[in-house]
Parts: sequence; C-alpha cells; structure tokens
Amino acid sequence: MTQTVTYDATLDIPRPEVPTDVVGRPLPEFADPAPLASHGPARIVAMCNQKGGVGKTTTTINLGAALAEYGRRVLLVDFDPQGAASVGLGVNPHDLELSVYNLVMDRDVQLDDVVLPTAIDGLDVVPANIDLSAAEVQLVGEVARESVLARALRPALDDYDVVLVDCQPSLGLLTVNALTAAHGVLIPLECEFFALRGVALLIETIEKVRDRLNPALQIDGILPTMYDSRTLHSREVVARVHEAFGETLLHTVIGRTVKFPDASVAAEPITAYAPSHAGAAAYRQLARELVARGDSA
Ligand SMILES: Nc1ncnc2c1ncn2[C@@H]1O[C@H](COP(=O)(O)OP(=O)(O)O)[C@@H](O)[C@H]1O
Ligand SMILES: [Mg+2]
Repeated sequence: MTQTVTYDATLDIPRPEVPTDVVGRPLPEFADPAPLASHGPARIVAMCNQKGGVGKTTTTINLGAALAEYGRRVLLVDFDPQGAASVGLGVNPHDLELSVYNLVMDRDVQLDDVVLPTAIDGLDVVPANIDLSAAEVQLVGEVARESVLARALRPALDDYDVVLVDCQPSLGLLTVNALTAAHGVLIPLECEFFALRGVALLIETIEKVRDRLNPALQIDGILPTMYDSRTLHSREVVARVHEAFGETLLHTVIGRTVKFPDASVAAEPITAYAPSHAGAAAYRQLARELVARGDSA
C-alpha cells in the first residue's frame, strides 16, 4: 500500500522572518555607525514643529546622547526660551552668565564662551533661558536677522560631527534662524490625528526658507513620537503620514512611555537613565537610521 502525503501549502512553510516597520515596510538592519578617526565638518539639524509637546526636546536630548554613544561629537543648541533642553541635561538656567541669547545678540561673545560640557561624554550644550525671548523682538531691526544663528555656529562646524538645534514651538524668527543655519530638519510628530494639520504649514515654511535663505536645506525625516502600539489610532496616523509624505517618514518610531518624563525629571537622557529600556533602544535606532541615510555624521 502506498501512502499519500498531502501537503497543505498554507501551513508550515518555513518563511524567512522579515521584520517590518509600523506601516509594513521591510525594516532594514541599521548597522552601528563606523567609528570616526577625526571630527567635523558638522551637519546642523534643526528639530522643528510649531506645535508644543510633540517631543522636540526629548528627541534632541536623546538623539544627541545616542549619537555621542556612537562616538560622534555632538553639540546641542537650546534655541527655546523655555530652556527645557538645558534643564534636561542638568543645566540650571538661572545660573547662566552667558547663554545662546548672548551668542546671537552680542558680537563679542563667541561660541566657546557659551558652550558647556554635559555629564554625557561627547555631548556639549549651548544653553538657553528666558533671556532668549527678547531676541525675537530685538532681531527684527538687525541686518541679516535670519542668519545670526548660522553665523554664530560657524566655528562649531570644525569641532563637532552633529549640531542639533532644539527649536521653540513657533514658526517665528528664532525658528527661521534655526532653519537658515541648518543642513537638515527633523520633524517630530506626535501620533495624534490633529498633529497632521500643522505639518503642511511647517513644510511650506521650510520651503520658503529654502527658496529665499538656505537653498541646501533638506527635510531629513518625519519621526512619529508617543506611538502607542495598542491603539489603532497611532497606527492610522503613521499610515496617513506615509501616504502623504512617503519615504520622508522614518522607519523608527518612538513609543509612548513614562520613562521619558521620568528621565527629564532626573535631568538625564534616557540612554543614561534607563539604558536598556525600549525608549533608549528606539533613540539608538534613530541615530543609526539617520547615519545610514546620510543625515547625520
Ligand atoms: N515618547 C514619549 N512618551 C511619553 N512622553 C513623552 C515622549 N516624548 C516626550 N514626552 C513627554 O512629553 C512632554 C513634551 O515633550 P517635549 O520633548 O518637551 O516636547 P516639545 O519639545 O516638542 O515641546 C515632556 O514632558 C516629555 O517628557
Ligand atoms: Mg521643547
């Protein structure tokens, strides 16, 4: 008697597991960035979204710390009068003799005068405090008022691999200065439906700055933040971003977790506060993805 073996093609076929991102694209394995033998020239990246509370400062601090872990020399420029990035790195904004305000407003103040080291090896900060809010008004009467930050950051290009500028939540003159100084813009986007509305206006502003002031300006990527994998809502928002902006949407998404506010209270990047937490892994992946795209040193 012969035995027949039926084989159901839908079952038990060993299929190679292809990891995918949240919109179903194959997720590349981003290699660890190659060590650098020397530093510079720096790429300047502005962290921009006119909406507040979307993760700009959190991304600036944690991407900066992750890039520093990979051996990059990183300068973080706090360009928000709220000074949250400075506080998040342990700087007391009330104690500052000099801040980014003096750097942009006073021609006698040089970058070296305002840079502070942080507890993270390879990560320095130009701090900000409420003084910066006056600059917005005072700059209006200046010659080349849109490019004072670009001029002030020029010496950083030789010493650092990446300069990350944490923008304030507006599209005013300070943000235009950051966009004029930058090689690229990273757009953190909260995974919430109304968040999409502002992106078109932001991109319009970026295009105006590119046309008039900074022809080489690129959009490095849109980074979904506060992603909640348990909700369909988060996934739908990211799918809409992919539909509208294609490959500008990064593969990396940052999950929503209380570890981020906890790390801010501790005034540490999550990579130091909770180094093995998924949030730290997400920012390390972001660093690797940006390096692989050529959007960071
Ligand atoms: N992925 C996240 N999950 C949970 N909370 C977050 C996340 N990213 C940022 N936060 C918190 O949300 C608040 C706003 O984030 P922040 O980075 O300061 O935004 P922005 O700079 O755009 O105003 C902060 O309290 C921060 O700790
Ligand atoms: Mg902020």
